[in-house]
Amino acid sequence: MLKQYCQEKGKIIDEALGKFVSCENMYPPAIFEAMRYSLFAGGKRLRPILLMAAADAVGGTGTDYLNIACGLEMIHTYSLIHDDLPAMDDDDYRRGKLTSHKVFGEGMAILAGDGLLTAAFTVMLSQPAVKPDVLVKVLGEISTAAGATGMIGGQVIDLSSEGEVISIDTLAYMHQAKTGALFKAALRAGAQLASAKEWQIEALTKYAEQFGLAFQITDDILDVTGLQEKIGKPIGSDMKNHKATYVTLYSLNEAKIMANQAVNQALEALSHFGHEADILREMVRSLLTRDN
Ligand code: IPE
Ligand code: IPE
Ligand code: MG
Ligand code: MG
Ligand code: MG
Repeated sequence: MLKQYCQEKGKIIDEALGKFVSCENMYPPAIFEAMRYSLFAGGKRLRPILLMAAADAVGGTGTDYLNIACGLEMIHTYSLIHDDLPAMDDDDYRRGKLTSHKVFGEGMAILAGDGLLTAAFTVMLSQPAVKPDVLVKVLGEISTAAGATGMIGGQVIDLSSEGEVISIDTLAYMHQAKTGALFKAALRAGAQLASAKEWQIEALTKYAEQFGLAFQITDDILDVTGLQEKIGKPIGSDMKNHKATYVTLYSLNEAKIMANQAVNQALEALSHFGHEADILREMVRSLLTRDN
């Protein structure tokens, strides 16, 4: 069921992204080429799919919010381009292809990231059939999640913790911010756009927090145990950069136990939902066995 859902939504998202970030008659062509290179390198599209699944879970239709869903993927892709830069994680592969700076040079990679981040808001602002007050609320949450109190803040802690031993609280903050914030924005956006009830928004927020934590713990685990052919990015990047992760602060086994706990808490958060939240349940469970 999950595989089919992701394939179906993934196709719709890819088609829409192709239109939103097109090369046709665009000037200067070089920036659109670089933006599209990373956008279509083969990401899992988890954030837009989660937005849709949240809307579906509260009785809405996720595919009605394609602009906002695609905007999230554009923000996420920008964050990956910058995360891979020599001044950050200095990685050569992403999504199974050479990283943006390896293909286009550092300057163009920075600009491709900037281009995707700003275009994301143009695309999201053009979301049809949503009341302006709801759109303003949702876009406000998304911009905060992507900013210095969210993803960027987490990336700052990540960078400044290289080679340091950090506290468990700092590590939890870092994961919740650099990765969790965008997942939370995706799920809350889906719920709010589909006019969810307050208890549903609260439950999905709790689910999102645990999903984000489980996702980044398993990302840390895959950095040690994964296969580059599967995850499309170099194994051992964290060790190379002396990063503080769940695997360095705890053991591999403890990290797995903690990922498990986070998944169980995410499932617990959905306890008042019926079958309409089964996709969300499957999505979080799949984190424990993911290989990419
Ligand atoms: C990778 O995210 C970056 C993190 C936040 C850990 P994904 O694993 O969702 O990357 P793609 O989009 O599938 O490439
Ligand atoms: C990055 O975390 C999170 C972002 C905001 C991009 P990582 O540095 O662990 O992500 P990967 O492993 O390179 O995908
Ligand atoms: Mg990083
Ligand atoms: Mg990285
Ligand atoms: Mg990682």
